[in-house]
Amino acid sequence: MGVRFKGWGTALPDRIVTNDELSKTLDTTNEWIIERTGIKERRIGGSALTLGTLAGQRALEDAGYGLDDIDFLVLATTTPDRITPATAPMIANAMGLHCPAMDLNAACSGFMYAVRTAYGLLETGQKRILVIGAEHLSRWVDWNDRTMAVLLADGAGATVLEYDPDGTDLLSFSLGADGSAADLLTCEHDGFFQMDGKEVFRRAVRVVVSSAEAAMAEAGVTADQIALVIPHQANLRIIQAATQRLGIDMERAVIVLDRYGNTSSASIPLAFFDARENGRVKAGEYALMTGFGAGMTWASAIVQWS
Ligand code: COA
Repeated sequence: MGVRFKGWGTALPDRIVTNDELSKTLDTTNEWIIERTGIKERRIGGSALTLGTLAGQRALEDAGYGLDDIDFLVLATTTPDRITPATAPMIANAMGLHCPAMDLNAACSGFMYAVRTAYGLLETGQKRILVIGAEHLSRWVDWNDRTMAVLLADGAGATVLEYDPDGTDLLSFSLGADGSAADLLTCEHDGFFQMDGKEVFRRAVRVVVSSAEAAMAEAGVTADQIALVIPHQANLRIIQAATQRLGIDMERAVIVLDRYGNTSSASIPLAFFDARENGRVKAGEYALMTGFGAGMTWASAIVQWS
């Protein structure tokens, strides 16, 4: 079955929070944050609804589609505006869409889980799916906790996936989940994000490598053929360790975490958009998209751009 990425859009809050600004209220420094994470600044503000709506509108415009062209909206978010209703119907309403709409929570793997879900929907006869990743992580950050405050941020990204009987951009997937690791990264109702950073780091590298290798094997693509890696943006050192183990030159990885921090479900479309803006997305070339997050969950896909 063929599926094409038809258009992309992003949305970021205007407010930039630098490491220096955080170090005024937290026991941390710009140097520590850059050295241990790669993050220099992040965007804070908006909500899953407002950011997701803007990213969705921009993706639709980029694809050249009207409101009636979309059959289904899948929103990946860890931070919906409310527990219920889901945020997706509210985004659909704000955009003027008239289609089924639902939220999906797979934490920082959310965007890739949503792409996989959209692929399945296209297999059953839908023609075009709007996939959005939108996060308002800052709402559930304890701004006195330096571990989480330096990492998490807000943003959104979206794409339109379209059924195509004649060819495909998406060659393979490898997804997984391990609930025995659930306590490593949590946010309770009315609570804040909490994390065992070291253990999440170790496991993140492992699952990115194993799922990327499985997706490459299924697609019949080798590491040296991967021209672009579009990874979840949690920590520069995780991306360095994973690409090194995969035997992929770090130069091929797209990095936006220096400017946007960890935006969970939004990070992969934000990274894709940056790569496209910089002329790094080339027809015929292979890319690895890979995410991991709380759950733990992970998801890799091999893409060949049309
Ligand atoms: N500023 C300054 N010092 C900090 C700090 C901060 N923001 N956060 C932790 N430290 C301190 C620790 O208290 C520790 O001090 P100690 O040696 O006196 O005990 C020291 O820095 C090293 O801490 P450690 O936890 O070993 O640092 P690290 O190199 O593992 O980096 C993370 C911490 C959180 C950046 C890193 O573990 C990480 O990125 N983990 C994965 C996170 C992730 O990907 N989460 C999202 C998944 S989607």
